[in-house]
Amino acid sequence: MENNLKVPFILYGGDYNPDQWDDKTIDRDMELFKKAGINLVTLPVFSWAKLEPEEGVYSFEWLDRILDKLWKNRIYVFLATPTTAQPAWMSRKYPEVLPVDIAGRKRTHGMRVFFCVNSEKYRERAAAIAEAMAKRYKDYPGLLGWHVANEYGTYCYCDNCQKKFREWLKRRYGTTDNLNEKWNTAFWGRTVYSFDEIYLPTEKNDDYRFFPAVQLDYMRFMTDSTKECFLNEASVLRKYTPEIPVFSNISGFIKKLNQFEMTEVMDYAAWDNYPSPKDDPSFPAMKHDIMRALKDGKSYIIAEQSPNQQNWQPYNKIKRPGQVRTIAYQGIGHGADACLFFQMRQSVGGQEKFHGAVISHADRDDTRIFREISQIGKELKGLGDRVLGARVPAKVGILFDWDNWWVLELCSGPTQDMDYLNQVHHYYKAFFENHISVDILKVTSDFGKYRVIVAPLLYMMKEGVAERLEKFVKCGGTLITTYMSGLADENDRCIFGAYPGKLRKMLGIWVEETDAMYPDETNQMVIREWKGVNGTYVCGFLCDQIHTESAKTLAVYGKDFYEGSPCMTVNEYGKGKAYYIGTCPEAAFLRKFTDQICENNGIVPYIDAEDNIEVCVRENEKGTTVFLINHAEEDTIVNLDDRAFYDLLTGKTLTGRITMGKREVLILAPCEADDE
Ligand code: GLA
Ligand code: ZN
Repeated sequence: MENNLKVPFILYGGDYNPDQWDDKTIDRDMELFKKAGINLVTLPVFSWAKLEPEEGVYSFEWLDRILDKLWKNRIYVFLATPTTAQPAWMSRKYPEVLPVDIAGRKRTHGMRVFFCVNSEKYRERAAAIAEAMAKRYKDYPGLLGWHVANEYGTYCYCDNCQKKFREWLKRRYGTTDNLNEKWNTAFWGRTVYSFDEIYLPTEKNDDYRFFPAVQLDYMRFMTDSTKECFLNEASVLRKYTPEIPVFSNISGFIKKLNQFEMTEVMDYAAWDNYPSPKDDPSFPAMKHDIMRALKDGKSYIIAEQSPNQQNWQPYNKIKRPGQVRTIAYQGIGHGADACLFFQMRQSVGGQEKFHGAVISHADRDDTRIFREISQIGKELKGLGDRVLGARVPAKVGILFDWDNWWVLELCSGPTQDMDYLNQVHHYYKAFFENHISVDILKVTSDFGKYRVIVAPLLYMMKEGVAERLEKFVKCGGTLITTYMSGLADENDRCIFGAYPGKLRKMLGIWVEETDAMYPDETNQMVIREWKGVNGTYVCGFLCDQIHTESAKTLAVYGKDFYEGSPCMTVNEYGKGKAYYIGTCPEAAFLRKFTDQICENNGIVPYIDAEDNIEVCVRENEKGTTVFLINHAEEDTIVNLDDRAFYDLLTGKTLTGRITMGKREVLILAPCEADDE
């Protein structure tokens, strides 16, 4: 088992902030935690000011007492270094720890995650408290992991960051000549003759897109700086407790830092899952798959999700009956081995006093939410170690890349509506609705395990990627790529010679121009000779003007001066096929198309069900576990055919057509071990 959390059950619990509570309340918490089946809490995330009241003076007795109580109740902990919120004395004594924003404003103390990741003083004090905690708690029996800081992601533009950025660029480019060339500074007179002439990105009418190359490298630099800031603490912790995993929790707004890079230095990918009530279930599903991708398919940690409403969304819907359960099992179904909530007990004051919690202000064990949380707790106990470390078997991969994300959205043109995550999701959703498991892949992942790879908007062609995709297709793979692919290099310089650059030969086309559609404007994809897919579909967003070379046209535009010209093509290449979609098709087309692609490649859903049902499959040495989740407010049919499954929650055997009630979850195991 690759899970090294060392306990034979799914971790269940969440953020606990007992700084606010007296002993009586804490004792009551222990009682309620037991009732709810809580087996782990994360603490003390925000307690730096309490634990180090003045520089170098630590006071851990308060925490000792709580940890004693937790262990007496056999509740494990992720010990957090409290370094996300520095004490006020530190900001006062060492103003350099405070960040400067993009407008050049030195910020004052008060927020959390509000420090400069490059501040030497911050790092010194953070490493010191991490060391004090590691020394004190290294033998604490309930310690399962170190949770470092919280939701990194603050960008800083202080003088120190400026200096460090220049050093970083010098290491990356060596000479200013090289940098001038890579950044194409000859445009708009930006040539520099010394690294000291380079400035951090600045704002101009809120448009940070006016110099994409510097902004892109700044985001890379911030990722590296934050990684160092994490390692500053992690290396101290690892020295004292080499066996204990160390990680930080990734904000649900995952864009600001390259999380592939960040998690390289972490033992787990851990993230905070806060779907908006309006999200289609396939959207958090995709984010879960991105999280699973961070450590190449290894199980991950859901460090936070809300047991009820949030406080920070514009309109904070309470969770519908059963919804916290569908959200929890969706995460586990996609590969999580820890299902944690923010927060255990609702705060009495402060910004998050109306954020949902396992224990609400009412302080009762008979609230709707407490009962639902307890039900899940009981069920997870029953599941034991069944799914720990289990992988998701996927034959379809979707490429996802942070630099590509950043740079696509830094482009001025061809459309202001560029949203990479939404675009990737458009393709992801088609597979999701067809009940096909997908792995999100890095551009450096091993492609050989997959039959189908989708590379939506693969704008940035990093060194070697085109060659690896070619090899994949030559060996029989199916590649699907789209508009805005193959246009630029790692520094956002466009490729000379026709688009899509290095992908051109494999795709057998070249793209001459790209038309942008107004939000309310559409064109049509007309398909006449494609069995099972024939018809006219709506398309929009962007419309490439494609010339076929060796490729065959599959669809043509139905309108405008380019009516009748190709908008989708396929090229036979080696033993495989390379599809190019030159415009954004309506979802109905993508469902039919991906369905056919999967069928042609022998990829079938593990269980076929109606649309509302999400099917998640995980496999480990204990066998296959299937999670069926009805996200809808209505009964929905699932057809198990003549296969028999154990219902792991009730012990019953199920077969044939079954009806799942609204927001119902079933966790099944095939009766025959070899039933695959
Ligand atoms: C974030 C933070 C938590 C809490 C939640 C509220 O994820 O990490 O401390 O503020 O949001 O939703
Ligand atoms: Zn700074």
